[in-house]
Amino acid sequence: DAINEIMVQHRHGSAGPTIVIEEFLTGQEASFIVITDGQHFIDFPASQDHKKIFDGDSGPNTGGMGAYAPAPVVTSEIRKKTIDRIILPTLKGMASEGRPYLGFLYAGLMISPAGEPFLLEYNCRLGDPETEVLLPLLDCDLVDLVEAALDGRLEDFKPRFKQKSAVCVVLASLGYPGEYRKGDRIFGLEKINDPSVFVYHAGTKKDGDHFVTNGGRVLVVSAVADSLQLAIDKAYENVKKISWEGVQWRKDVGGKASSPSSSPPIP
Ligand code: GLY
Repeated sequence: DAINEIMVQHRHGSAGPTIVIEEFLTGQEASFIVITDGQHFIDFPASQDHKKIFDGDSGPNTGGMGAYAPAPVVTSEIRKKTIDRIILPTLKGMASEGRPYLGFLYAGLMISPAGEPFLLEYNCRLGDPETEVLLPLLDCDLVDLVEAALDGRLEDFKPRFKQKSAVCVVLASLGYPGEYRKGDRIFGLEKINDPSVFVYHAGTKKDGDHFVTNGGRVLVVSAVADSLQLAIDKAYENVKKISWEGVQWRKDVGGKASSPSSSPPIP
């Protein structure tokens, strides 16, 4: 069907006369994000996004319904393979072509059941909602880290990440990722008062002295704790303090860490 659409019905116009057929990869996806000064890099703890709207990775894709880090699927062995086979060759290749890459580089990985990392895509940015768990784990000033990258000083920069776990849960409007309503009053934000819990505003608007929904993904509640389970518990304890009519969130963020499953079967 896809070939028919692309090559016969010319859905993509002149962009479609050639197709590349690749091996279908199964396994678990993980986000491996580094900051680089063009030569050296510091990798953030590996994280996992939850892209589907419903629990158990079901329903349509979204911009991301939650994330956690560190993700145990990226073992120290898989981290080393990722660095040696993917990150370093990319940085060296770009530098040797006279275009050193500087900034955040996000490798979207598929970890095969045999423990081999494959690169699915690169993004030239941090991830969302991965950022919402990675920044709270950073144990140094983000500006210092960015300046060290800009000045080519990452080799000597001491990366500082908390030896903790972070989990974030996205609170979305009813109907998202399809049609959704805006303008519902958000209750309970003032009840969040734990310094290790952060609420990121994604789709909100101030209306007088309160906030109302103004997007599909509305808020992200992120929690840091000594273990993944404690971070999950703390995130959900605080998610439940916030409400508006029709709010929806996934109830299984972080669960992949304890019951890793491979990607769903080919439809
Ligand atoms: N979490 C997916 C992305 O940022 O592209």
